[in-house]
Amino acid sequence: MILKSYSQKMQTLILKDYEEMSQVAANEIIKTIRQKPNATLCFASGDTPKRTCQILAERILNENIDISNCQFIGLDEWIGIPPENEGSCTYFLMNYLFKTLNLSPNQYHLFNADETKSVEECKKMDDFINKSGGLDCILVGIGLNGHIGFNEPNIPFTNYCHVAELDELTVSVGQKYFNTATLLTKGITVGLQHLMEAKKAILIANGAKKATIMKAVYESEINNQIPATIMRTHPNGLILMDEAAADLVVIR
Ligand code: GLP
Repeated sequence: MILKSYSQKMQTLILKDYEEMSQVAANEIIKTIRQKPNATLCFASGDTPKRTCQILAERILNENIDISNCQFIGLDEWIGIPPENEGSCTYFLMNYLFKTLNLSPNQYHLFNADETKSVEECKKMDDFINKSGGLDCILVGIGLNGHIGFNEPNIPFTNYCHVAELDELTVSVGQKYFNTATLLTKGITVGLQHLMEAKKAILIANGAKKATIMKAVYESEINNQIPATIMRTHPNGLILMDEAAADLVVIR
């Protein structure tokens, strides 16, 4: 494990492989819960956080960590994709984390994918996060275009929850979550302003396919064409990469 500081603000850890990256990510979330037993935690879905969620759930159960006062939030959802669809973010979080932890429904908060409800859904999530005093920890992945959640290129850094038109790349890469070709047009997401206000923000990336975008995250100007560059300004940001994702990254 190599500890590198990008700036005084954000930290980077390069881990041997996916397993080690996932262990460190889960450990960071557990540290948050131990420090604040009523923490509000936000989770991405997707391939990257799968193992983190499994390890987190195993450790919480094995170590008898009290999460009865924690609140769990889903970072994003595909508009129009119902919760029973295996490609939905809701399905992912329910199956990899919430059901294993036996959370009661009043402990988790997931976006309803019905487009007619999106305005009230955003307001409901914003109100909940604000009432909680902001997120204590947010775990995010990164899209090949640098998106975080569905904060697509060019989205204002100051957005709270919102609905986004999906980038072509997001639509094509997103097919991997679904059993059959699926029409994806929009996403509903927690915004980057919530990420910036979170007490801790963790971005995880693994595999060679993420190497080019991770290089851009470190080397581009901080700009909303690559939304994840905002991580470099987070006062308590942490990027965890496996060696393959970090392969092209030069940290100064
Ligand atoms: C998806 C999701 C993001 C996710 C990202 C990376 O489209 N909206 O929340 O973090 O893309 O996904 P993966 O981890 O499968 O590479």
